[in-house]
Amino acid sequence: MRIDFVTLFPEMFEPIMGASILGRAREKGLLAWSCVNPRDFSEDKHRKVDDRPFGGGPGMVMLAEPLAQAIDSVRTKNTRVIFLSPQGEPFDDRKACELAKTDHVVFVCGHYEGVDERIMSLFDEELSIGDYVLTGGELAAMVVADAAARKLPGVLKKEDATESESFASGLLDFPQYTRPRVWRGREVPEILFSGDHEKISAWRQDAARAATRRKRPDLLSRA
Ligand SMILES: C[S@@+](CC[C@H](N)C(=O)[O-])C[C@H]1O[C@@H](n2cnc3c(N)ncnc32)[C@H](O)[C@@H]1O
Repeated sequence: MRIDFVTLFPEMFEPIMGASILGRAREKGLLAWSCVNPRDFSEDKHRKVDDRPFGGGPGMVMLAEPLAQAIDSVRTKNTRVIFLSPQGEPFDDRKACELAKTDHVVFVCGHYEGVDERIMSLFDEELSIGDYVLTGGELAAMVVADAAARKLPGVLKKEDATESESFASGLLDFPQYTRPRVWRGREVPEILFSGDHEKISAWRQDAARAATRRKRPDLLSRA
């Protein structure tokens, strides 16, 4: 999978996209990413990329042309261009799976009051990571990139099974425990030491259902 981030703040990406599992995915050649800065396409002598909104009001709006040129510089005929926006379709696990099957994604990160509305025609879709407003699209783009990248074959180790993970089967994940066996007086459920894999698996399914009922009953009604 290849990702291009269209961003005014490319320095935000390496600390997150270059670390841990995503960093290893890049080393293994499973994920390639880079940043394109609309400022490099500004025709203004001060490399300006925003201006005041027509009609008045606070803040600045990102100019359409430097953004359009930044997108065009990386777009091919198989590219999916996604604008991160609080007004977009809510991002979820199903969308992460869908994106993981896409060869090339361009994430466009807005900033300030947002972007000139006329640029919307260049986007294939608009995605939101939740009903709140961030200062910019960079964190949102990395959230979406991380969730999609971990679905790519080979990114997670084989033993990091993803089928039982929250949302994959419509339920939340089952509770996990590790050493010590007793922590501050709290014990690990006895069944997990039984060595009986069928019983453990049945217990985990029940526990996943119970967790879902308690924390996210809306998921059960959707299943
Ligand atoms: C301050 S926001 C602009 C918000 C816009 N004025 C509005 O109220 O809809 C600046 C940029 O942050 C990004 N952003 C903010 N919240 C987001 C969210 N919940 N999901 C995805 N992107 C978001 C978008 O790229 C947006 O253009």
